[in-house]
Amino acid sequence: MGAIILDHPLAHHKLTLARDRKTSGSLFRQLVEELGLLLAVECTRDLPTVCVVVETPLERTQGRSLNPLDPVLVPVLRAGLGLLPAFLQLLPTAKVGHLGLYRDHDSLVPVPYYRNFPPLLEERPVFVLDPMLATGGSASEAVRQLKAAGARQITLASVVAAPEGIARLQADHPDLRIVVAAVDRQLNERGYILPGLGDAGDRIFGTA
Ligand code: PRP
Ligand code: URA
Repeated sequence: MGAIILDHPLAHHKLTLARDRKTSGSLFRQLVEELGLLLAVECTRDLPTVCVVVETPLERTQGRSLNPLDPVLVPVLRAGLGLLPAFLQLLPTAKVGHLGLYRDHDSLVPVPYYRNFPPLLEERPVFVLDPMLATGGSASEAVRQLKAAGARQITLASVVAAPEGIARLQADHPDLRIVVAAVDRQLNERGYILPGLGDAGDRIFGTA
Protein backbone atom coordinates (compact mmCIF):
# COMPACT_ATOMS: atom_id res chain seq x y z
CA MET A 1 0.00 0.00 0.00
CA GLY A 2 1.49 3.41 -0.96
CA ALA A 3 1.85 6.15 1.64
CA ILE A 4 -0.81 8.87 1.65
CA ILE A 5 0.87 12.28 1.69
CA LEU A 6 -1.04 15.33 2.95
CA ASP A 7 -0.94 17.95 0.23
CA HIS A 8 -2.54 20.93 1.92
CA PRO A 9 -1.35 24.54 2.21
CA LEU A 10 -1.75 24.45 6.01
CA ALA A 11 0.38 21.31 6.24
CA HIS A 12 3.11 22.86 4.09
CA HIS A 13 3.06 26.08 6.12
CA LYS A 14 3.12 24.44 9.54
CA LEU A 15 5.74 21.89 8.55
CA THR A 16 8.04 24.63 7.25
CA LEU A 17 7.74 26.47 10.57
CA ALA A 18 8.39 23.23 12.48
CA ARG A 19 11.54 22.54 10.42
CA ASP A 20 13.06 25.90 11.36
CA ARG A 21 15.80 25.39 13.96
CA LYS A 22 14.90 28.81 15.44
CA THR A 23 11.35 27.67 16.28
CA SER A 24 10.91 27.51 20.06
CA GLY A 25 10.00 24.30 21.87
CA SER A 26 6.53 25.55 22.75
CA LEU A 27 5.76 26.59 19.16
CA PHE A 28 7.19 23.29 17.86
CA ARG A 29 4.86 21.37 20.18
CA GLN A 30 1.90 23.46 19.02
CA LEU A 31 2.81 22.91 15.34
CA VAL A 32 3.07 19.13 15.82
CA GLU A 33 -0.36 19.22 17.43
CA GLU A 34 -1.81 21.26 14.54
CA LEU A 35 -0.24 18.92 11.99
CA GLY A 36 -1.79 16.13 14.06
CA LEU A 37 -5.23 17.57 13.39
CA LEU A 38 -4.64 17.52 9.64
CA LEU A 39 -3.27 13.97 9.87
CA ALA A 40 -6.23 12.88 12.00
CA VAL A 41 -8.74 14.12 9.41
CA GLU A 42 -7.01 12.14 6.66
CA CYS A 43 -6.42 9.04 8.82
CA THR A 44 -10.10 8.80 9.76
CA ARG A 45 -11.45 9.23 6.21
CA ASP A 46 -12.53 5.56 5.95
CA LEU A 47 -13.92 5.04 9.46
CA PRO A 48 -17.16 3.06 9.24
CA THR A 49 -20.41 4.86 10.00
CA VAL A 50 -23.94 3.68 10.74
CA CYS A 51 -27.27 5.27 9.74
CA VAL A 52 -29.09 6.98 12.62
CA VAL A 53 -32.28 8.97 12.96
CA VAL A 54 -32.00 12.41 14.55
CA GLU A 55 -34.64 14.97 15.57
CA THR A 56 -33.59 18.47 14.57
CA PRO A 57 -35.51 21.36 16.18
CA LEU A 58 -37.69 21.26 13.03
CA GLU A 59 -38.08 17.65 11.88
CA ARG A 60 -36.83 14.09 11.95
CA THR A 61 -34.01 13.26 9.54
CA GLN A 62 -31.35 10.65 8.87
CA GLY A 63 -27.71 11.12 9.72
CA ARG A 64 -24.57 9.03 10.08
CA SER A 65 -22.71 8.23 13.29
CA LEU A 66 -19.37 6.63 13.85
CA ASN A 67 -19.49 2.94 14.59
CA PRO A 68 -20.05 2.68 18.38
CA LEU A 69 -16.91 0.55 18.86
CA ASP A 70 -14.35 3.26 19.54
CA PRO A 71 -11.02 3.35 17.73
CA VAL A 72 -7.69 2.96 19.49
CA LEU A 73 -4.88 5.50 19.50
CA VAL A 74 -1.37 4.25 20.22
CA PRO A 75 1.26 6.96 20.63
CA VAL A 76 4.81 5.60 20.43
CA LEU A 77 6.60 7.10 23.44
CA ARG A 78 7.82 9.63 23.67
CA ALA A 79 7.39 11.73 20.55
CA GLY A 80 4.06 10.15 19.60
CA LEU A 81 2.54 11.89 22.62
CA GLY A 82 2.84 15.12 20.63
CA LEU A 83 0.17 13.89 18.18
CA LEU A 84 -2.19 12.47 20.80
CA PRO A 85 -4.11 15.66 21.81
CA ALA A 86 -5.15 16.36 18.22
CA PHE A 87 -6.39 12.82 17.62
CA LEU A 88 -8.25 12.87 20.95
CA GLN A 89 -9.83 16.20 20.05
CA LEU A 90 -11.44 14.63 16.97
CA LEU A 91 -11.98 11.18 18.54
CA PRO A 92 -12.75 12.07 22.19
CA THR A 93 -14.03 8.60 23.08
CA ALA A 94 -11.08 6.72 21.58
CA LYS A 95 -9.23 4.25 23.78
CA VAL A 96 -5.55 5.00 24.25
CA GLY A 97 -2.80 2.39 24.30
CA HIS A 98 0.81 3.24 25.03
CA LEU A 99 3.95 1.73 23.59
CA GLY A 100 7.38 2.71 24.88
CA LEU A 101 10.21 2.25 22.38
CA TYR A 102 13.54 4.00 22.13
CA ARG A 103 16.01 3.71 19.30
CA ASP A 104 19.43 2.47 20.36
CA HIS A 105 21.86 5.26 19.38
CA ASP A 106 24.44 2.91 17.83
CA SER A 107 22.46 0.05 16.31
CA LEU A 108 19.28 2.14 15.59
CA VAL A 109 17.32 -0.94 16.68
CA PRO A 110 14.15 -0.11 18.68
CA VAL A 111 14.23 -1.20 22.33
CA PRO A 112 10.78 -1.85 23.88
CA TYR A 113 10.33 -0.63 27.48
CA TYR A 114 6.58 -0.20 28.09
CA ARG A 115 3.34 -1.55 26.70
CA ASN A 116 -0.31 -1.16 27.66
CA PHE A 117 -2.97 -1.88 25.02
CA PRO A 118 -6.76 -1.70 25.50
CA PRO A 119 -8.93 -4.80 24.89
CA LEU A 120 -10.81 -5.74 21.69
CA LEU A 121 -8.00 -4.64 19.39
CA GLU A 122 -9.16 -7.11 16.74
CA GLU A 123 -12.43 -5.26 16.20
CA ARG A 124 -11.26 -1.65 16.37
CA PRO A 125 -9.45 0.64 13.92
CA VAL A 126 -6.01 1.32 15.42
CA PHE A 127 -3.99 4.49 14.80
CA VAL A 128 -0.28 4.40 15.62
CA LEU A 129 1.05 7.89 16.28
CA ASP A 130 4.73 8.77 15.79
CA PRO A 131 5.88 12.04 14.22
CA MET A 132 9.09 10.53 12.80
CA LEU A 133 9.39 7.53 10.46
CA ALA A 134 13.14 7.19 9.90
CA THR A 135 14.58 3.68 9.38
CA GLY A 136 11.09 2.33 10.08
CA GLY A 137 12.38 0.05 12.82
CA SER A 138 10.24 1.59 15.59
CA ALA A 139 7.03 1.74 13.55
CA SER A 140 7.55 -1.81 12.27
CA GLU A 141 8.02 -3.08 15.83
CA ALA A 142 4.93 -1.15 17.00
CA VAL A 143 2.81 -2.69 14.24
CA ARG A 144 4.28 -6.14 14.94
CA GLN A 145 3.32 -5.89 18.62
CA LEU A 146 -0.17 -4.63 17.80
CA LYS A 147 -0.77 -7.43 15.30
CA ALA A 148 0.46 -9.98 17.84
CA ALA A 149 -2.10 -8.53 20.27
CA GLY A 150 -4.86 -8.99 17.66
CA ALA A 151 -5.09 -5.67 15.77
CA ARG A 152 -6.07 -6.04 12.13
CA GLN A 153 -6.87 -2.54 10.81
CA ILE A 154 -3.82 -0.40 11.50
CA THR A 155 -2.92 3.09 10.25
CA LEU A 156 0.36 4.88 11.01
CA ALA A 157 0.27 8.68 11.26
CA SER A 158 3.63 10.45 10.95
CA VAL A 159 4.66 14.02 10.29
CA VAL A 160 7.86 13.31 8.37
CA ALA A 161 8.97 10.06 6.75
CA ALA A 162 12.17 8.96 5.06
CA PRO A 163 11.83 6.89 1.87
CA GLU A 164 13.85 4.17 3.64
CA GLY A 165 11.27 3.95 6.43
CA ILE A 166 8.32 3.72 4.06
CA ALA A 167 10.08 0.97 2.05
CA ARG A 168 10.82 -0.96 5.26
CA LEU A 169 7.18 -0.79 6.40
CA GLN A 170 5.86 -1.77 2.99
CA ALA A 171 8.10 -4.85 3.09
CA ASP A 172 7.33 -5.77 6.73
CA HIS A 173 3.62 -4.86 6.78
CA PRO A 174 2.12 -4.55 3.27
CA ASP A 175 -1.38 -4.17 4.77
CA LEU A 176 -0.47 -1.09 6.86
CA ARG A 177 -1.96 2.30 5.89
CA ILE A 178 0.61 5.09 6.18
CA VAL A 179 -0.41 8.76 6.32
CA VAL A 180 2.34 11.40 6.43
CA ALA A 181 2.63 15.16 6.06
CA ALA A 182 5.85 14.86 4.01
CA VAL A 183 8.35 12.38 2.62
CA ASP A 184 11.85 13.81 2.96
CA ARG A 185 15.00 13.11 0.95
CA GLN A 186 17.01 10.51 2.89
CA LEU A 187 18.54 9.42 6.19
CA ASN A 188 21.96 10.56 7.29
CA GLU A 189 24.63 8.18 8.63
CA ARG A 190 23.16 8.46 12.17
CA GLY A 191 19.65 7.56 11.02
CA TYR A 192 18.27 11.12 11.15
CA ILE A 193 15.89 12.32 8.46
CA LEU A 194 17.20 14.96 6.01
CA PRO A 195 16.11 17.74 5.90
CA GLY A 196 13.79 16.54 8.70
CA LEU A 197 12.89 18.19 11.99
CA GLY A 198 15.81 17.08 14.15
CA ASP A 199 15.00 15.00 17.22
CA ALA A 200 11.23 15.39 17.56
CA GLY A 201 11.03 14.00 21.10
CA ASP A 202 13.75 16.34 22.34
CA ARG A 203 12.10 19.35 20.65
CA ILE A 204 8.63 18.52 22.00
CA PHE A 205 9.81 17.89 25.56
CA GLY A 206 12.78 20.30 25.77
CA THR A 207 15.34 17.60 26.48
CA ALA A 208 17.97 18.53 23.84
C1 PRP B 1 12.21 8.58 17.46
C2 PRP B 1 10.84 8.73 16.82
C3 PRP B 1 10.53 7.33 16.40
C4 PRP B 1 11.88 6.77 16.04
C5 PRP B 1 12.02 6.79 14.55
O1 PRP B 1 12.06 8.12 18.75
O2 PRP B 1 9.88 9.31 17.64
O3 PRP B 1 9.91 6.56 17.42
O4 PRP B 1 12.85 7.64 16.62
O5 PRP B 1 13.18 6.18 14.16
P1 PRP B 1 13.19 4.81 13.37
O6 PRP B 1 12.18 4.91 12.30
O7 PRP B 1 14.60 4.74 12.83
O8 PRP B 1 12.92 3.69 14.33
P2 PRP B 1 13.32 7.98 19.75
O9 PRP B 1 13.86 6.59 19.71
O10 PRP B 1 14.31 9.07 19.48
O11 PRP B 1 12.64 8.15 21.17
P3 PRP B 1 11.91 9.41 21.80
O12 PRP B 1 10.58 9.55 21.08
O13 PRP B 1 11.76 8.99 23.22
O14 PRP B 1 12.78 10.62 21.63
N1 URA C 1 13.94 10.37 15.31
C1 URA C 1 13.79 11.71 15.30
O1 URA C 1 13.25 12.31 16.25
N2 URA C 1 14.26 12.38 14.23
C2 URA C 1 14.84 11.78 13.18
O2 URA C 1 15.24 12.46 12.21
C3 URA C 1 14.97 10.38 13.21
C4 URA C 1 14.50 9.70 14.29
